[in-house]
Amino acid sequence: MNHKQLLGGMVLGLVLVAGVLVVTGPTWTAYAQDAGAAADKYGYEGNKSCKKCHSATYKSWEGSKHATALNTLKPGEAKEAKEKFKLDPAKDYTTDETCLKCHTVGLGHKGGYAIPDAADAKAVKEAEKLAGVGCESCHGPSEEYAKVFAEIMKSKRMYKTEELTAVGLVVPTEATCTTCHNDQSPTHDPAKKFDFEEMKKAGVHEHEALKQREG
Ligand code: HEC
Ligand code: HEC
Ligand code: HEC
Ligand code: HEC
Repeated sequence: MNHKQLLGGMVLGLVLVAGVLVVTGPTWTAYAQDAGAAADKYGYEGNKSCKKCHSATYKSWEGSKHATALNTLKPGEAKEAKEKFKLDPAKDYTTDETCLKCHTVGLGHKGGYAIPDAADAKAVKEAEKLAGVGCESCHGPSEEYAKVFAEIMKSKRMYKTEELTAVGLVVPTEATCTTCHNDQSPTHDPAKKFDFEEMKKAGVHEHEALKQREG
């Protein structure tokens, strides 16, 4: 092997390593917040549309800690937890983006939560639809799949889940939960391992039987 070939081999090697880094990059950069948001292909729309068709599920979610997660960031709320984890109970964290990314739906993504101007009543109302950990935090941005569900409901036909996941629906797994339930949370207790089955029972919503789904 002459000098040129050796140099060529080294350059090729570097290109390969760089390629691998690009491909695998996200595994260390990231805790991507919110299911399915990575590509920003579909927009978030808020929980209200889900409520129309999944009223029982909505009700049980409404009673969960997820639903009130934005409220937790207000001064005076969750005082004990804040003190225990060295957060300031008197501080208003509702405008702190480092908190909002896990305590609202889709911050920084298409259609996602935007901090409203308190004087703008319309913006405040809009923001309410995306406050807390909502349906789309776990099931992905619904801009497209909600339309498909509407058609499925109307036609009463059978469907396969893949039809919906192709347009942004997420069937949540443990990885969906740990985009937020991880050590970037200031109240995270490293001694408490995330037990998916236990946590599902404790904190998600009641389940409904699917009658139109195939398989
Ligand atoms: C978008 C971020 C996010 C995702 C995704 C998420 N959570 Fe949470 N979760 C939170 C936040 C924030 C709280 C704290 C809410 C509060 O009390 O203000 C919480 C609280 C909880 C709680 C109650 C408090 C506790 O620690 O016991 C349970 C149970 C829970 N989550 C289960 C789950 C499960 C199961 C999944 C996945 C199927 C999931 N979460 C996905 C952000 C998230
Ligand atoms: C990486 C996601 C993430 C970030 C960032 C985050 N949180 Fe949370 N937060 C959670 C989750 C998940 C929980 C549920 C308990 C746990 O596992 O930490 C939670 C719970 C809490 C609780 C306890 C609620 C209770 O009722 O006991 C408080 C208080 C809180 N968060 C405040 C904050 C504040 C303030 C910030 C910003 C400085 C913040 N969080 C940033 C995910 C996050
Ligand atoms: C914290 C995450 C989380 C949130 C928030 C959430 N879900 Fe789910 N959802 C799940 C999980 C986990 C499953 C079960 C997935 C599986 O294994 O089949 C599920 C299943 C479902 C199903 C399938 C039938 C069933 O009940 O199992 C429907 C419908 C559904 N969710 C609707 C909603 C609606 C509507 C909302 C908002 C009101 C919502 N979900 C909020 C995690 C979540
Ligand atoms: C127009 C009515 C309608 C709307 C709006 C709607 N859904 Fe549904 N959804 C359905 C129907 C119908 C099914 C199938 C029910 C069945 O099989 O019995 C379904 C099924 C689901 C399933 C189960 C998918 C599977 O195959 O495992 C999930 C998850 C779900 N919906 C979440 C949501 C969420 C989250 C929203 C809001 C963003 C939403 N849906 C909005 C009508 C709707």
